[in-house]
Amino acid sequence: MRLYITGIAGLLGNNIVKRLVNRCEITGVDILDLDIPNITYEKFSLYEKERLRLHIAQVKPDAVIHTAAAVNVDECEENPQWAYKLNKETTGDIAEICNELGIKLVYISSDAVFDGESEELYQETDLVNPLNVYAKTKLDGERLVLNYSRNLVFRTNIYGQNIQNKKSFGEWILSSLEEGKVLNMFEDIDFSPILVSDLAEIIYKALEKDLCGLYHVCATGCITKYDFGIKLKELFELKTGNINRVQSEMMHFKAKRSKHMGMSNAKISRELEIKIRTPEESIREFRRLYDEF
Ligand SMILES: NC(=O)c1ccc[n+]([C@@H]2O[C@H](COP(=O)([O-])OP(=O)(O)OC[C@H]3O[C@@H](n4cnc5c(N)ncnc54)[C@H](OP(=O)(O)O)[C@@H]3O)[C@@H](O)[C@H]2O)c1
Repeated sequence: MRLYITGIAGLLGNNIVKRLVNRCEITGVDILDLDIPNITYEKFSLYEKERLRLHIAQVKPDAVIHTAAAVNVDECEENPQWAYKLNKETTGDIAEICNELGIKLVYISSDAVFDGESEELYQETDLVNPLNVYAKTKLDGERLVLNYSRNLVFRTNIYGQNIQNKKSFGEWILSSLEEGKVLNMFEDIDFSPILVSDLAEIIYKALEKDLCGLYHVCATGCITKYDFGIKLKELFELKTGNINRVQSEMMHFKAKRSKHMGMSNAKISRELEIKIRTPEESIREFRRLYDEF
């Protein structure tokens, strides 16, 4: 399988490379450097639409996996033009290019499209109601991608090992505790975080099966941010640092956030006949990979 990844040097991009390099031919584009042996990619901005079209046409991938995005929720609120340009317009450009070239597009979206008012785990059929610019622009991107029936959209929430200087949520908790810091973590916000290497594997399986449409790809069940931090501390056997149980109201974020982002992975689990890890099993795997690194 030949894959083309936008944002190949980012958290998800570099984990797809690491996980699938022995099974797929992989290339892509990013504005950052990526230093992984035997991987070549081009360094330019996705805003260069003609250059992107030429590169994808030349590579002729079986699928484009579009991971590049404006991902910092508060920065998107402060700079909505940037968020709309990258998450909406550029995604629309990529969907158009892929359609012209007859290539399947996999778009990575977010659990943030929900307002958190439900008491259940969110299903693909549930109503969306984004509360901030990031979530609105990611939802706009979904709609542009789903205009074409061969495409695939995965809503997710990820953490794992990042080869960039930016730390994923899990790494931020670990390094802060290792430095002996005291973290305030929310007991009133829940989510269904999936390990990024597991997401990479599911992308591969979904492409093998030629799945199309919208799927929630997340952990089985959900966990509060506080409990996630506590489990991480316990399973990594960290003796330093501490975690305070706090309510999200005490933080004054620029962007409004949903308090309940837990999603159900029943649809993707059924279609691929897989069992996805619970948050706790996922943290155990994170520890295993961390020790191996
Ligand atoms: N991380 C999460 O917790 C999370 C949760 C839910 C959904 N998601 C979604 O998952 C996807 C992957 O997230 P991620 O955490 O892997 O993101 P990431 O680490 O920020 O990776 C994205 C990569 O794309 C690059 N990029 C940004 N603008 C670009 C442009 N104009 N042209 C080319 N490359 C560009 C980024 O460079 P810079 O770093 O310089 O911007 C970065 O290397 C995103 O679509 C995100 O919305 C992520």
